[in-house]
Amino acid sequence: MIIKSERISLKHLLTVEALTDQEVMGLIRRGQEFKQGANWTPQKPQYFATNLFFENSTRTHKSFDVAEKKLGLEVIEFEASTSSVQKGETLYDTVLTMSALGVDVAVIRHGDENYYDELIQSKTIQCSIINGGDGSGQHPTQCLLDLMTIYEEFGYFEGLKVAIVGDITHSRVAKSNMQMLKRLGAQVFFSGPREWYDEEFEVYGHYLPLDELLEQVDVMMMLRVQHERHDGKESFSKEAYHQEYGLTVERAKKLQKHAIIMHPAPVNRDVELADSLVEGLQSRIVQQMSNGVFVRMAILEAVLNGKA
Ligand code: CP
Repeated sequence: MIIKSERISLKHLLTVEALTDQEVMGLIRRGQEFKQGANWTPQKPQYFATNLFFENSTRTHKSFDVAEKKLGLEVIEFEASTSSVQKGETLYDTVLTMSALGVDVAVIRHGDENYYDELIQSKTIQCSIINGGDGSGQHPTQCLLDLMTIYEEFGYFEGLKVAIVGDITHSRVAKSNMQMLKRLGAQVFFSGPREWYDEEFEVYGHYLPLDELLEQVDVMMMLRVQHERHDGKESFSKEAYHQEYGLTVERAKKLQKHAIIMHPAPVNRDVELADSLVEGLQSRIVQQMSNGVFVRMAILEAVLNGKA
């Protein structure tokens, strides 16, 4: 059942912590409405959006492209490799330029944590910022699409048992999700290599060996091994990681029948989870990618409402 969403207005979307529970639930419900074919009524005849990606992306970048086009926004193309970034232009100056050109909203992915601080403090930059991922910091739009996918499945968060498994230290997805899932009443567990787990996560949930979690969780959220953040140091072979910390076919047989498997993707098949599970019956990975478009439509709408 979908409860009709309230109108939400946001200046920026930088972290999930900054959202109220009502805003989170409103964005999820609005995402569901868009999925069911709802329309958006713009306040102005023309809005401009740009997607500034300084780190690689398929899902986030392209689902924002699709979401913007579905809403009827004009999308200003930007490639860091062919822009004045190559002449030394800073992120601040790129965004200042986009703002001066009349861009209403900039979706940004950047390798620096909290890159957005100087942008939102600027008195000159007028465009709204949506964080598409900041280093190992946060990935709020992925968190919202993950929450939408869980809500679509269960219809509630209170008391759900959610395991977050894998390279937690380097995962911005995990950090956004652990905060918001705990706040919404889910019981969070962690598993994976101890060296990729930090005691600071204990405020959100407890660490358990993977084999102790299989039979009790409702959601098994596997994380990508973030090779690009390991400074070239690899502690596991792919096979060894899969056998020790991965969701193997044998482990998946122990999951409850109603349990779902999630992964933000891209998936390292046969590493975090077995190849045959990626598109299997209990997987919601494809649904997560599709939901990304609809929840991002809801986020863009909220930010453009904020400008009105
Ligand atoms: N899940 C996710 O952020 O994927 P991309 O890196 O492809 O955007």
